[in-house]
Amino acid sequence: MLREYIHALPKVELHVHLVGSASVDTVVALAARHPSAGVPTDRAELAAFYEFRDFDHFLKVYWAVQSMLRDRGDIDVLVTGLAAELAAQNVRYAEVTVTPYNHVLDGMPGDELLAGLESGRATARDVHGVELAWVFDIPGEKGIVAGRETLTFALGERPDGLVALGLGGPEIGVGRARFEPFFTAAREAGLHSVPHAGETSGPATVWSALHDLGAERIGHGTSSAADPALLAYLAEHRIPLEVCPTSNVRTRQVASVDAHPVRRMLDHGVVVTLNTDDPPMFGATLEGEYLAVATSLGLRKSEVAALAANGVRSSFLPASRKDELLAEIAAV
Ligand code: ADE
Ligand code: ZN
Repeated sequence: MLREYIHALPKVELHVHLVGSASVDTVVALAARHPSAGVPTDRAELAAFYEFRDFDHFLKVYWAVQSMLRDRGDIDVLVTGLAAELAAQNVRYAEVTVTPYNHVLDGMPGDELLAGLESGRATARDVHGVELAWVFDIPGEKGIVAGRETLTFALGERPDGLVALGLGGPEIGVGRARFEPFFTAAREAGLHSVPHAGETSGPATVWSALHDLGAERIGHGTSSAADPALLAYLAEHRIPLEVCPTSNVRTRQVASVDAHPVRRMLDHGVVVTLNTDDPPMFGATLEGEYLAVATSLGLRKSEVAALAANGVRSSFLPASRKDELLAEIAAV
C-alpha cells in the first residue's frame, strides 16, 4: 500500500549519473563488444563485479563501465534506457550528471557525446514523457585541468537542458576549494552549483562546497550530520541535500539504511531529497529509496509526500512546472 502510494506520487530525481544508470543488459552487451575493459559479460558475474569493497573500488568499476562508451549511439542507449526506467516509476523529471572530460579521455569526441545526449533527451520527452536536464560534472581526481576543460566545454557548447556544474569523484585529497574559479565562472554564466561533498569525507568538505563553490545543493552531504552548526546552516539557508541512502550503504559509507543519518538531517529541518546515484550498480531504484527510508523512519504518507515535494522544490525546473508537480503531489 505504501509502495502504491510512492508509485502514485510524481517524483523527480536530482542525483543520478548517466554512466551509473546503464542497465545490466546494456552493460553486458557493451562488455561483449569491449572485452579489454574487463567487465563481465555474464549477469551473475556482473552482480559480483558490482559488490564494492569500498568507495575507491566502486569508482574503479564505474570507470571500467565508462570506458566502454565510445559514440553517440552508446550515449543514446543510456539516456533512453534511463528515461524508460524513470517513466516506469512515475518519475517526471531528472537532472542527470554527465562527465564530459572522462568521456573525451576515453576516446569519445565531444560532439558525439552531445549528439547522443540530445537525441536521447528528445526520445525521453517524446516517447517516455520524462523531461531531462544535464549537470556537467568535473571529475575531481583529474585536477584543475579537468575543471578548466569541463567549464570550457559546458559554456562553449551550452547544450539544451544544461542546468548546472557538478564536482564528483573521490573527496579525500581533492579539496573543493581548488575548483572555485570554475564554479564562479559557471555561476556568472547562469549555471547552478551542485558539487558532491560530505559523501566520503567530513563536514569541512561541505562547508567548503558552500563557501568556496557557492553550492546550491549538496551531493550526498552525509557527513553533515556530524556537525550541528552545519545542519543548522543548511536548514536556515534551505540548501537541499541530495541523499542517496542505498549508494552510501553499497559503497560502505554507512552500515545500513537504518544507520543512515537521514533522520537526524530531517530532525534538524534540513531539506532532504531522495536519489539513487548509480541505480543498477547499487541495485537501487528511486521508488526503492522512498520505500526504504519511509520504512526505516516509520514515515506517514504525508511525510513521504513531503520528501517528493522537497525534490520538486529543490530542482531547477521553472516555477510554473514546479507548481504543477506540487499540485499533483497534493492531489495524490
Ligand atoms: N561518480 C559516480 N558516482 C559517484 C559518486 N557517488 N560520488 C562521486 N563520484 C561519482
Ligand atoms: Zn554521485
